[in-house]
Amino acid sequence: MLCYILLFMVPANAWFNPFAYDAYAPKGVSCPPGNLLRTADSLSNEEVAWLEKRNSKTQPALITFLLGLNLTDSDAQSFVTSATKPITLGLTFSGGSYRAMLNGAGALSAFDARTASDDNGLKGILQASAYIVGLSGGSWLVGSLAMNDFISIDEVLETNLWDLRHSVVDPGFLNPFTNVPYYIGISAAVAAKALSAFKVSVADIWSLAISRQFLGRFKADGAGLTYSSLASNTESAFYNADMPFPIITALTRSSNSTGQVNYYSAIIEFNPFEMGSWDAYLNSFVQLKYAGSLLDGGVNYNGNCVTGFDNAGFVMGTSSCVFTAIFYLVNLSGFPKFLQKIINGAVIYPYENLKVVMAEWDPNPFFNSTATGYLQSQTNLPMVDGGIDYEGIPFEPLLQPERNIDVIFAQDSSGEVDGWSDGHSLIATHDRQIVANGPKFPPVPNVFTFRNGNLTARPAFFGCYESDTPLVVYFASRPFSYWSNTSAAKLSYSEYEKRGMIRNGYEVVTRLNGTIDPEWSTCVGCAVISREQRRQGVAQSDQCKNCFSRYCWDGTLYTGPARGDNFADSSLTESTQYYNSTNVEGFNDGGVSLFKRWQR
Ligand SMILES: *[C@@H]1O[C@H](CO)[C@@H](O)[C@H](O)[C@H]1NC(C)=O
Ligand SMILES: *[C@@H]1O[C@H](CO)[C@@H](O)[C@H](O)[C@H]1NC(C)=O
Ligand SMILES: *[C@@H]1O[C@H](CO)[C@@H](O)[C@H](O)[C@H]1NC(C)=O
Ligand SMILES: *[C@@H]1O[C@H](CO)[C@@H](O)[C@H](O)[C@H]1NC(C)=O
Ligand SMILES: *[C@@H]1O[C@H](CO)[C@@H](O)[C@H](O)[C@H]1NC(C)=O
Ligand SMILES: *[C@@H]1O[C@H](CO)[C@@H](O)[C@H](O)[C@H]1NC(C)=O
Ligand SMILES: *[C@@H]1O[C@H](CO)[C@@H](O)[C@H](O)[C@H]1NC(C)=O
Repeated sequence: MLCYILLFMVPANAWFNPFAYDAYAPKGVSCPPGNLLRTADSLSNEEVAWLEKRNSKTQPALITFLLGLNLTDSDAQSFVTSATKPITLGLTFSGGSYRAMLNGAGALSAFDARTASDDNGLKGILQASAYIVGLSGGSWLVGSLAMNDFISIDEVLETNLWDLRHSVVDPGFLNPFTNVPYYIGISAAVAAKALSAFKVSVADIWSLAISRQFLGRFKADGAGLTYSSLASNTESAFYNADMPFPIITALTRSSNSTGQVNYYSAIIEFNPFEMGSWDAYLNSFVQLKYAGSLLDGGVNYNGNCVTGFDNAGFVMGTSSCVFTAIFYLVNLSGFPKFLQKIINGAVIYPYENLKVVMAEWDPNPFFNSTATGYLQSQTNLPMVDGGIDYEGIPFEPLLQPERNIDVIFAQDSSGEVDGWSDGHSLIATHDRQIVANGPKFPPVPNVFTFRNGNLTARPAFFGCYESDTPLVVYFASRPFSYWSNTSAAKLSYSEYEKRGMIRNGYEVVTRLNGTIDPEWSTCVGCAVISREQRRQGVAQSDQCKNCFSRYCWDGTLYTGPARGDNFADSSLTESTQYYNSTNVEGFNDGGVSLFKRWQR
């Protein structure tokens, strides 16, 4: 109804068609045969088949990457071709709003062989990787690239895919000719979903709002675009396994029924084929395309399945659900009354001790599934931002033994201290394996050691000498040419700011374009081959031993005096004092931190 009433308000704007936003509503389809759920005891058949295609591309790319390095005593060609299994690399990007998205984009561009720059040996890591994961701000990076056919960051900038000059609540910068159709589009989409008898929440509004920035090239800002469509579009880079397997994560309420979000929350992964969790409390996956169908033990019971629930913007919006808070902090007088009502009526669950908004995934696709537990007994499955349990970097999908990953490249912009990272995310993932039976993660030090022992000032390797976890190559954000610790509440970036952040992200992972340590990319190569070397019983070269002694955390804890913001180990670093507005751009270039209450 509502969308039709709204029609009369449409300005004379030839390209704008509010009916197109109806595509946001899930649609009834006949059910495919069989049970739509499976137990999470293996990779899906679809992922296995996809991975086979992907491996045939990553392994040659890996040879090219390794040959470009200055690895002594190594024959990359025969090493990779005679490997005991395909060497499997995963990339992961933390949450932290646009800060994380832009820092992550800089890192990704350094890993991408397509990037136009000639001062960096890390190019090709993207082409050699099998998986790419993001949560919250990191999910915007992974999601928007995946949906836009994995265009390069160079192309993102050239074509201005991410126009961040105006915040999502006011894209037209008070210009009604832009804002009114924008609000009407969102209203029409939310109304269409609600009229199809699905619960809507403020997360839907948020999802549609970010869609304009990330999916703006699609009809009606991607209102009809599903995440699972990646798997069916035969022309796409994903379908052809030209790029890594994109995963986005979010969290459920705790399975120990306190209603909290904590280590006992199931970590949900969304991939183009499935959504679900490897965690014992859920331990199931459902075919993503049919999420939204009424299922009992994986079998539909009303004679009708549903597709279209897994809207790509809604998947990103679920992962970044914490940012729905912005609607409570800005002046919404320009918003249509209908949306204001949903926003003001947002369900903050009575049993939810944290006052966070959850994205409604209702019906719960895991209802009455075999792994009996709290989550299976609920008819809905509300989800929160993937970073609420302090695991700001989505490691879990990459730690599953079924995926057998050798090396994880982790970019951290979770920003615990003044927008800088202090290693908390790794500590949380490490702790979760102990308290909540999470997957194995290498030992990591305490926050004080991260901050003061040069583990956030420069890249660090964790788990170098472990045998049952992947090796983690960790990059905490730090300043070089731009203050990359902008507030998570900074919702608009000028072109200049955006490029400054991306450039700095590039410099972080390349160690200032290879200038701080000319051997850095070679050391990364040592990390990449080390697990397979061990499997083959091949000894490390002296060069690699030397790299490991420089970059591996050696198990010691720092006990000296606090060093404040420790941006050591840089040719640029005279002292923290050096990094001020006089010398480096972007100082304190952020809004006030509105999200402090979710930070430690
Ligand atoms: C390559 O590595 C060797 C041994 O570590 C070193 O002596 C040489 O200078 C390096 N060459 C370049 C171009 O980095
Ligand atoms: C590092 O390389 C990037 C990409 O080519 C470039 O934008 C940046 O200016 C370089 N930084 C320095 C300090 O040379
Ligand atoms: C919100 O914006 C409207 C229109 O710009 C203005 O009239 C109103 O006073 C604002 N409300 C607050 C609380 O600032
Ligand atoms: C749940 O599953 C059990 C066992 O398959 C079945 O007997 C029952 O009818 C199902 N539905 C509900 C609502 O419990
Ligand atoms: C960025 O870091 C500097 C130094 O740690 C700090 O003074 C500044 O407040 C931070 N900026 C933001 C937006 O948090
Ligand atoms: C960290 O780096 C600084 C500067 O390079 C160095 O003086 C200090 O010893 C290093 N600290 C540790 C714990 O390695
Ligand atoms: C900024 O750094 C420069 C160079 O290190 C120094 O001369 C200047 O006093 C610093 N300014 C502030 C406000 O710290």
